[in-house]
Amino acid sequence: MIPLTVGTMVEAPDRPAVIDGARFNRHTFWCGQSGSGKTYALGVVLEQLLLNTELPIAVFDPNADFTELTRTRDDVDAVDAARWADLGIRVFHSSTPREPQLRIRYVDLSVRSKGSVARLDPIADEEEFNALLHLDPGPAMASRETFLPMLTTSADSAHRRLGLRIDNLGILEWPLWAFGGSSASTVVQERPRAVVLDLGGFSHPGEPQAAALGILEDLWDRRMERRPVLIVIDEAHNFCPPVPRSTVEAQLTEQLIQIAAEGRKFGLWLFLSTQRPTKIHPNVLSQCDNLGLMRMNSPRDLAELADVFGFVPHQLLEQSPSFRKGEALFAGTFTDEPQLVRMGRRLTVEGGSDLTVEARTA
Ligand SMILES: Nc1ncnc2c1ncn2[C@@H]1O[C@H](COP(=O)(O)OP(=O)(O)OP(=O)(O)O)[C@@H](O)[C@H]1O
Ligand SMILES: [Mg+2]
Repeated sequence: MIPLTVGTMVEAPDRPAVIDGARFNRHTFWCGQSGSGKTYALGVVLEQLLLNTELPIAVFDPNADFTELTRTRDDVDAVDAARWADLGIRVFHSSTPREPQLRIRYVDLSVRSKGSVARLDPIADEEEFNALLHLDPGPAMASRETFLPMLTTSADSAHRRLGLRIDNLGILEWPLWAFGGSSASTVVQERPRAVVLDLGGFSHPGEPQAAALGILEDLWDRRMERRPVLIVIDEAHNFCPPVPRSTVEAQLTEQLIQIAAEGRKFGLWLFLSTQRPTKIHPNVLSQCDNLGLMRMNSPRDLAELADVFGFVPHQLLEQSPSFRKGEALFAGTFTDEPQLVRMGRRLTVEGGSDLTVEARTA
């Protein structure tokens, strides 16, 4: 048991609420309606994991909520602040021009993933897909300027068609691609204590998904190294929905289903947060052993949770509509007994917190 104090008990505000950090070697599901405090509570738990365990963490951060994870709040005591500074947290940006920017390499993707980015089907688009399959990752692919001409001026018509498709889809314009530069995946493989991947600043919907796909695929390919990492995905419905809406989303969902089903023994542990249980793929949801539930009004969603998480007493689930912001029900392997918790304070600065309505001045 690695005790993590994440807040206080709702019924006994003077008693600390403790969960077991050692049990993040399971998949964890975080759920609650918009504004219920999921991202804040996620931050509280991640901070405690960083201070009290050695577990490396990779945060897929679609709203740039964790880009300030390196900065402690002013009211944090000097000892914790000094420990925090020594953690060596790495942040890759996309929402602001701050360096380093989040980049991955197209050439590093698997053939299926390269195809999914180019919306290619291996059967329906057999010739272009085959051109992709046998593409030589030579120096021409290491630069935005030479990548496309290599294809469009090829003597092979399948290469030319592949080039036209890539040009038409505007894929090479995506700022995500590192070409010859370095990939954020390299840093994730080094297993710093935390890597924050800010996915919020891309304009094409395929970019955050391709970024996640590239990094997850790399983690999966190296699974035999058995080096643990907690894979945290906020807004997880954009990464593994029940019915994928694009080829990249389908490939990403498939990768997450595989990690959910088989990743545990390789140290690939998921921590997924979303507003409704039905918004993520059932084969991912059904693999989660830890539940953090914040306020949720919808009886249908609560019924779904009761169904998937049979270990949670119904009368506790039914209290969820009356939770206040920052209150949560924890159940599953990371807590001996289900408990109702008022989340403690964050140590670090929140990134993209809620905007406020400005009053008219004139
Ligand atoms: N325990 C808490 N203590 C103080 N402030 C909190 C707490 N929980 C949430 N908040 C604040 O409430 C607002 C909403 O919280 P948060 O962003 O975590 O909600 P969310 O459930 O992630 O919502 P969404 O689904 O829209 O992302 C934020 O501004 C956050 O700072
Ligand atoms: Mg949130």
